[in-house]
Amino acid sequence: MKKFAVFGNPIEQSLSPTIHQMFAQQCDEAISYEKILAPEGGFIAKARSFLSQPDAVGCNVTMPFKLDAFNMAVVDDQAAKDAKAVNTLMKVSNGSNETNAKNNIKGFNTDGIGLVNDLLNNHIELKNKRVLLIGAGGAARGVISPLIEASIAQLTIANRTKEKAQQVADETGHSNIEVVALEDVSNVRPHIIINSTAASLDGELPCAMSLSLLEECDVVYDMVYKNSPTVFMREARSQGVPKSLDGLGMLVEQAAAAFTIWTSKQPDTNAVVTKLRELIE
Ligand code: ATR
Repeated sequence: MKKFAVFGNPIEQSLSPTIHQMFAQQCDEAISYEKILAPEGGFIAKARSFLSQPDAVGCNVTMPFKLDAFNMAVVDDQAAKDAKAVNTLMKVSNGSNETNAKNNIKGFNTDGIGLVNDLLNNHIELKNKRVLLIGAGGAARGVISPLIEASIAQLTIANRTKEKAQQVADETGHSNIEVVALEDVSNVRPHIIINSTAASLDGELPCAMSLSLLEECDVVYDMVYKNSPTVFMREARSQGVPKSLDGLGMLVEQAAAAFTIWTSKQPDTNAVVTKLRELIE
């Protein structure tokens, strides 16, 4: 049986085992997929130990270990390089189970492609659109390159701490990212607003949702999926934004991209989103 796991701290809340077992069932794969709590500073040793098992294929990595995962693997994936964050590790099949060497583990970041695929699944056109990304933490970093590669017209990053947004924009190496302070966000005229902050988990709006900010906005996307519709989605709707989406589809799509990396099989994500929504609501 192929072995997988997700590492994080905390990890109890993770839906990844449920999602991957649904994929495996669809694709006739027999897998085990466990949640592993790693102590801070203890992730790399635990991940190496997990991957050194003969049947281990790969693992997912969530907060706060995505930078550690980036550092312990060979990373060719552009999204992971730009984000300096890895959410998917795969043991490279080289005939040995030696995972202490970095070159036996490959790293990927599927968060951004998960977001882009979920937007496309929901018939959201990205090409030539102006996108406002709120937040400059790990969740934001992972989605920048895939958004730019989707041929958007303009990416603006707004963050409470503007310097952090500037640093993130500079580090990605994309030259045309605009950075604004959160209090100046009403001057931006985005078609799409993506909330990568966890403000919704505290029932807070990430920024003032002014009429001018929302004037040309067709869709808002909240990466949070708990207690959906979130306050951010509700506020946008009440101000006439036609479409608002939560992050459940992104969660499933990033998992699907990892599953495909590991197994070369493509699961039916729509069926899994529907089932998962029933489970969490
Ligand atoms: P993650 O990895 O989930 O993105 P993070 O790295 O801690 O988490 O980043 C959280 C992001 O959400 C940051 O951009 C943070 O802004 P600061 O850089 O100014 O701290 C932003 N954030 C968190 N809570 C927020 C709130 N209530 N309103 C606005 N922005 C918030």
